[in-house]
Amino acid sequence: MIRLGIFFGGRSGEHEVSLMSATSVINAVNKDRFQVVPIGITREGKWFFYDGPVEKIEDGSWQGEPEMTVVAGLGSLKERIDFALPILHGPYGEDGTIQGLFEMLDLPYGGCGVTGSALAMDKILAKTVFAQGNLPQGPYVPVIRDELEQQQEVVLEKIERTLSYPMFVKPANMGSSVGISKVKDSSGIKDALKEAAKHDRRILVEEGINCRELETAILGNFDAKASGVGEIVPSAEFYNYQAKYFDGGQSKLCIPADISDEIAEEIRSIALSAYQLLDCSGFARVDFFLEKETNKVYINEINTIPGFTRFSMFPLLWEQAGLAYPKLIERIVMLGYERYNAKNNR
Ligand SMILES: Nc1ncnc2c1ncn2[C@@H]1O[C@H](COP(=O)(O)OP(=O)(O)O)[C@@H](O)[C@H]1O
Ligand SMILES: [Mg+2]
Repeated sequence: MIRLGIFFGGRSGEHEVSLMSATSVINAVNKDRFQVVPIGITREGKWFFYDGPVEKIEDGSWQGEPEMTVVAGLGSLKERIDFALPILHGPYGEDGTIQGLFEMLDLPYGGCGVTGSALAMDKILAKTVFAQGNLPQGPYVPVIRDELEQQQEVVLEKIERTLSYPMFVKPANMGSSVGISKVKDSSGIKDALKEAAKHDRRILVEEGINCRELETAILGNFDAKASGVGEIVPSAEFYNYQAKYFDGGQSKLCIPADISDEIAEEIRSIALSAYQLLDCSGFARVDFFLEKETNKVYINEINTIPGFTRFSMFPLLWEQAGLAYPKLIERIVMLGYERYNAKNNR
């Protein structure tokens, strides 16, 4: 029996999303093969083994339950789990930091390693690497917060010289659309930069693309495969935090997306290149924009720990490809062991 440490919560702005994803994963894990060891991380970054009811995770009421015990030191982690599965979104979960800890502990874990996680989380670095691989992407301007504070006019001039409105202003390291604004004209740009700067020292400004949003799911290490392509139809003007998680199901997922076979194939192929360029492994979801006027495909980003509820795109795409949710989790664990063994030359 593999003791599967499932990490949930975390210090990022996507804490709640993780609670939803992890609840689905914990419920679905094949209990004949795995003993689940849930490990909750509070918003403040405190770690607890949590043996209480799974239903209390999603609404946060697991905190304060009697079945919580402090994770006292790194040794106790290795004593209680064989394999780590971080179901954490955003910084300190999806960005290579906790993956680095697992490496130090010599613990096999699910998903991307340190480099892949860090590169995919940082929207500026990911774009730089995508450009090296000649992957199609829209125009953008990276901005450093210090530069913004010291030379705001120079920064604004550069942005407006390089890009046209509407623009999207984003913290470089975030997710779930936290801190992202769509800016229609120059009257909104300063506030948008200020908002993004609250979340990160580095900011990305992108030209807005009038687009459909398409996503594909990747699974595998050296021989990774792409699933079919799904489409997101947001309930809001763009796919913001509210539309992603709290719109009562008004945002629609369309699987498979209603696009030509050629475009689907192009997306899958770019997705696999991007996955390899960033040194991803295990699994990830790669997101695209399809420009409405031109049918041109642009890569947007790689999510190395995508939403993982039963209604999320990543598991639904694999379900459509014939891999049911519990099997998908098993496969992710096996891929984690495979990478661990390859890295350690076993
Ligand atoms: N350049 C762009 N053009 C059009 N829409 C965009 C652009 N950038 C972001 N968006 C919208 O904002 C959403 C969130 O942006 P994204 O870069 O995917 O950040 P996150 O990592 O938070 O998901 C996208 O799903 C899309 O709806
Ligand atoms: Mg996104």
